[in-house]
Amino acid sequence: MPETVASSRSSAQTHGDRSLGFTTMKEEVRVDSVDVEGTLPDWLSGRLIRLTPALLDYETATSTKEMGHWFDGLAMLNCFTIGPGKVGYASRFLESEAYASVRDKKESRYDVTFGTDPCRILGRRMMSVFDDKGGTDNTNINVTKVGERYMALTENRAPMEFDPETLQTYGPIHFDSDVPGQFGPLGHPHGDESGAMIGFFTQVGRKSSYRVHIWEPGTNSRREIARIPFKGAPRYMHSFAMTEKYIVLTAQPLHMRLARIMRTGKIMDGLDWDPQGRTEFLVVDRRNGRLVGRYESEPFFFFHHANAYDDGHDIVIDVVAMNDAASVWSLETAKLRDPDHKPRFYGELRRYRVSMTTGKVTVETLSDAHLEFPQINYGKVNGRPYQYVYGTAYRTPDSAWFDELVKIDVTTGSSVRWSEDGCFPGEPVFVRQPGEDGEDTGVVLSVVLDTKAGKSFLLALDANGFKELARAHAPHHIGFNFHGNFFRD
Ligand code: CO
Repeated sequence: MPETVASSRSSAQTHGDRSLGFTTMKEEVRVDSVDVEGTLPDWLSGRLIRLTPALLDYETATSTKEMGHWFDGLAMLNCFTIGPGKVGYASRFLESEAYASVRDKKESRYDVTFGTDPCRILGRRMMSVFDDKGGTDNTNINVTKVGERYMALTENRAPMEFDPETLQTYGPIHFDSDVPGQFGPLGHPHGDESGAMIGFFTQVGRKSSYRVHIWEPGTNSRREIARIPFKGAPRYMHSFAMTEKYIVLTAQPLHMRLARIMRTGKIMDGLDWDPQGRTEFLVVDRRNGRLVGRYESEPFFFFHHANAYDDGHDIVIDVVAMNDAASVWSLETAKLRDPDHKPRFYGELRRYRVSMTTGKVTVETLSDAHLEFPQINYGKVNGRPYQYVYGTAYRTPDSAWFDELVKIDVTTGSSVRWSEDGCFPGEPVFVRQPGEDGEDTGVVLSVVLDTKAGKSFLLALDANGFKELARAHAPHHIGFNFHGNFFRD
């Protein structure tokens, strides 16, 4: 087994109650300067912006209702502004139509959620097509930047633009020319050296296909670079991988039954896991957009790739893999609020190796950590051979929620960890130290829910030694969230 180096770690799971992390946040806050313990590096200057599915309960004329699924929480931007000499904090709801309709108790034109009965939110009308207005505009998954435009992203087509300073929402981005497709895993686009955003949409029709596209900074259009035909139901994919030569779509046997989704209005109701199915790696040549091949492995479920790279005639794909898709249903809000429920929302870091010469796929497990939300030194190593994956993890399989941060050396399987009793850390974001070339020279930032204090703090770890440098205290709790990014000044 891989060796584990523990830092300030007990073997048992944390003793905190995770329910605070699923408590609706209502207040919008702006604080110029928060309390900081420890010392942040002088070079660390910029904004950590995260998106939280913050509003999980809402008022109707007669009662308070609960969003059916964690993935449906209405998005709030949470921003820590770091340096010089202080840390500021601000939170503000994203002014999507979904949010405005709940706030104003009005009907919304969006009919499809992940797992909340739309009848509960809005007077639902029948849908004739699963068009680009079908899904919610509640962009609560990730934040990124193309050129100087900041945006919030979800599985749908339209990024939601916002101001990084005021956190004011500008609205959905309208493109001059665009690529067709009803939905996509737009929550996890890739970026290339030029700062372009690469993603794909799923287009269902007489000839269904995955439409890989690029959005170059300074332009207002998305352009198709590859089209991968498929038959039958589309596969649910939350992310994809990109090496220096290839784009890899990992098509797991989680089928999206669109007729059922349209009938109930819930994506979750239309997801079918086929335990006899195969997970297929669809490999596209980045130079000419050609589909090089489809390579099959045993079925596995995943949300997130950690990294991928070319190794001679092989493609190496590192992914946080689970044996099936059960975790999707374990994240319903009512279950997460039940202290007896064990969400087991984690996978293991696996390495799939696709041989382009034999067509065979082999697999190995890289670490014994129970992790999710894998992160790397993206700017330096994405698509290339690399050494470190950061993640948030369960100390034991029965932990109530993510109660440690891990740094895994994928070349040896060893790991270092950070944890503190009563604390649940979120996705770790690596920030490179300018002018330094080491893969782990920089800091790791994570927003940690401290159940002892009933509040959250921004934790900064030295990425190399994985020891605490500083923590900056938010004025309130920040709900458990998915993703964010650090934007340097
Ligand atoms: Co994600």
